Amino acid sequence: MTVTNDFNEVLLNRRSVKQYDTSVKISKEEMTEILAKAMRAPSTSNTQTYRFVVIDTPEGKEKLAKLAPHNQSQVTTSSAVIAIFGDLQASEKFEKMFSKTVELGFMPEEIKNQFQPMLMQRVANMSERELRDWVLTDAGLVAMQFMLVARSHGYDTNPMGGYDKENIAETFGLKKERYVPVMIISVGKAAAEGRGSYRFPVDEVTFWR
Ligand SMILES: Cc1cc2nc3c(=O)[nH]c(=O)nc-3n(C[C@H](O)[C@H](O)[C@H](O)COP(=O)(O)O)c2cc1C
Repeated sequence: MTVTNDFNEVLLNRRSVKQYDTSVKISKEEMTEILAKAMRAPSTSNTQTYRFVVIDTPEGKEKLAKLAPHNQSQVTTSSAVIAIFGDLQASEKFEKMFSKTVELGFMPEEIKNQFQPMLMQRVANMSERELRDWVLTDAGLVAMQFMLVARSHGYDTNPMGGYDKENIAETFGLKKERYVPVMIISVGKAAAEGRGSYRFPVDEVTFWR
């Protein structure tokens, strides 16, 4: 596994890649490392509300291809496609996050005892819309970080929203009421370069106050 540490190289040469070298497989060990690095992304109160499904088997790819008719080459030629979901019941894991944070010496016990019930209360009082905004934001950040980490490992990616969001959770054995689909990301070794893409000048999208 070769890792590039040149951040500008990773950042400025990332392109959405549609065609991958089908002979390249990413091992479970390396994919786990890429995901763990992606998870260094910040999340709301460190709640890490995203969940991943790594689709890297022929059967999984076949099921996904049916859900993404406009993104066939990314699904069929990539080493894997990562389906990212937001977990609307992520609060089940808050206790573990707080306890581990205390155990590792990153938070005093008193702060946990104040903050954890407040956060649980906040979640309990939230509308589904607010909860969805929360998990979508966390998932967006981890998704971007995944793409950059993958590039640093020598792979390319393509984020995709063009798939059947109504059916993806259940197709992969997850409850659709609980897991909100965010995006799918193909990952693998590029067989054809991605096209360049235009960005607006910063001043056109920025309000300076
Ligand atoms: C949320 C989201 C959904 C996207 N959906 C698709 C898609 O369904 N198919 C596709 O080929 N590209 C998709 N893209 C890729 C964009 O077209 C691409 O990021 C954009 O054109 C900029 O190009 P670049 O990624 O090479 O910089 C999506 C990107 C994002 C962020």
